[in-house]
Amino acid sequence: MSEQLDRFQFLDHFASSHSIATNTDNPQNTKNSIAGNLSRKGLQLLSSRRRFMTALSAGFFLTPGLFAEELMKTPALTEGPFYPDKLPLDTDNDLIIIKDSTTPAVGEITHLSGRILDRNGNPLKDLLIEIWQCDAKAVYLHSAENGREGAKRDKNFQGFGRFTTNTKGEYRFRTIKPIPYPGRPAPHIHYKIKKGDRELLTSQIFIRGHAGNLRDGIFRDNRDIIDRELTMADFKPVKDSKIGEFSARFDIVLGRTPDERELKSKSARR
Ligand SMILES: [Fe+2]
Repeated sequence: MSEQLDRFQFLDHFASSHSIATNTDNPQNTKNSIAGNLSRKGLQLLSSRRRFMTALSAGFFLTPGLFAEELMKTPALTEGPFYPDKLPLDTDNDLIIIKDSTTPAVGEITHLSGRILDRNGNPLKDLLIEIWQCDAKAVYLHSAENGREGAKRDKNFQGFGRFTTNTKGEYRFRTIKPIPYPGRPAPHIHYKIKKGDRELLTSQIFIRGHAGNLRDGIFRDNRDIIDRELTMADFKPVKDSKIGEFSARFDIVLGRTPDERELKSKSARR
């Protein structure tokens, strides 16, 4: 854990100072545009959900439980066919550099970070988050790509990484900004959250505002407009970065964990 965090200490300057992604820059406009499709109750729900998301974006976590009624579970999305069938030699949270290589991956470097929380806003520590995505040439680290015509992998891109959340529920990755690939016009980063060998959530992160989202089958299948919001992150240019880096904040809210379910069923049997 400390090793993971140490590797990313160089990011602290923007992790603390960079403005955190918000999807509520102009909530009134958003509300007006969808008002025709929502009932009054729906709008109230949207409003409370938006308050929740504002709270998330602003990082108001000082009082766990304050937003207990409003924490929305991050929706699950398909794993897709490209979870690595053979893990890379290096599986750390820096996907740009493999082991001690001096050649970085091709692509727009992106610092992806966030927190994993329960529905009461409590940080969830010691959870494993894995991410995987295609490289800047639209090729996944997967044997199914080996025979694909024109698929020439960027050998310097790790393609997959892992991180264990700290006591604040935080995770961090250095990766590339995702790009579209044939069949998936919406750039996305796949992720999976595990506790031990139990899988708690599998989903995808999309780029908020990307034109490909509404042409993408997986994005569109998620029909609930708020659920869609909960799968998107703002990818913002890092101020004064000489190499054009981006940062993206993405908080993840889990439903009840298997532990909680087990406890509940045990108490019910007593
Ligand atoms: Fe994918």
